[in-house]
Amino acid sequence: MTAVLRATGLSVVHHTRSSPLHAVSGVDLTLHERRTPALVGESGSGKSSIAKALLRLPPPTTGTVTLDGTDLAALTPRALRALRPRMQMVFQDPVSSLNPRRAVRDLVAEPLDAHPDGARDRAEVVERQLDAVGLPVGLFGDRLPGRLSGGQAQRVAIARALAAEPRVLIADEAVSALDVSAQATVLNLLRRLTEERGLAGLFISHDLGVVRAVSDDIAVLQLGRLCERGPTEQVLAAPAHPYTAALLAAVPEPGRPLGATGLLPADPPSPLDPPSGCRFRTRCPLADARCAEEAPVLRELTPGRSVACHRPLPH
Ligand SMILES: Nc1ncnc2c1ncn2[C@@H]1O[C@H](COP(=O)(O)OP(=O)(O)OP(=O)(O)O)[C@@H](O)[C@H]1O
Ligand SMILES: [Mg+2]
Repeated sequence: MTAVLRATGLSVVHHTRSSPLHAVSGVDLTLHERRTPALVGESGSGKSSIAKALLRLPPPTTGTVTLDGTDLAALTPRALRALRPRMQMVFQDPVSSLNPRRAVRDLVAEPLDAHPDGARDRAEVVERQLDAVGLPVGLFGDRLPGRLSGGQAQRVAIARALAAEPRVLIADEAVSALDVSAQATVLNLLRRLTEERGLAGLFISHDLGVVRAVSDDIAVLQLGRLCERGPTEQVLAAPAHPYTAALLAAVPEPGRPLGATGLLPADPPSPLDPPSGCRFRTRCPLADARCAEEAPVLRELTPGRSVACHRPLPH
């Protein structure tokens, strides 16, 4: 597996009016060619803060990010600008991420506008990228975003990202606003395109139910720290961290009465004032004295599978 983007010791502190907010603490993450690992966690766990830090929008407070071995912090602003198109992101709300007054063909061509000599190939690139996302240019090229469904708009956003010929494609809650059938289309597309084009993907979601469809590997984020990671099938079949188990129990399943799960009743603690020790301990049914004193570190359970917990579940 070729490592494309590598983040080490990533921390993000947001400066709020009251006090510094530690949104991300000491996260290591590597994105490989043709893989789309998932980053999951509740709202506010720091998923978007990580995505933005990877792309230096803004840079992480501490930690290193390398793209194909190049330390992004060491680049001149000009060199960083030249590299930016290699790292693309698609967001939750596709319609608002697209200029409402530009036709689909112009939106997809946007990344090419920076290269005047690319004008020649413009029509060809637009047609190829729209084809790749299943939107024939003859039918969709002249449409404005307002005349697209949510799923179609997200596919336009993906086609535009692809036109930049990225190395990295980060999808931040990219299917959360879509209905189930549009979700399936976009999930299949992300998985297929990452493999076909040799991209390094990252699929960010709060919804464990959709992660299985795209990601072979999963990393679980809890209040800014990674608490479990490993092959998706293994982690979801037998989560080792009580937080992963609670997230999984919150996924609605046919036949299970709503509210029967109940492991995550309260909102997460504020990242402005996180609990001592393990940040999940105030909501954890298994927590004991050690959990309040000592923050558990990620340790390997089996090759490729790790957990940060003093009292992991049977796995
Ligand atoms: N620009 C900012 N200034 C201050 N605080 C911020 C800023 N951006 C995020 N935060 C805070 O940082 C924490 C992590 O936020 P982040 O958006 O990264 O979480 P998330 O996991 O992406 O959540 P969601 O699932 O809701 O998108 C939250 O407590 C949030 O309120
Ligand atoms: Mg987010």
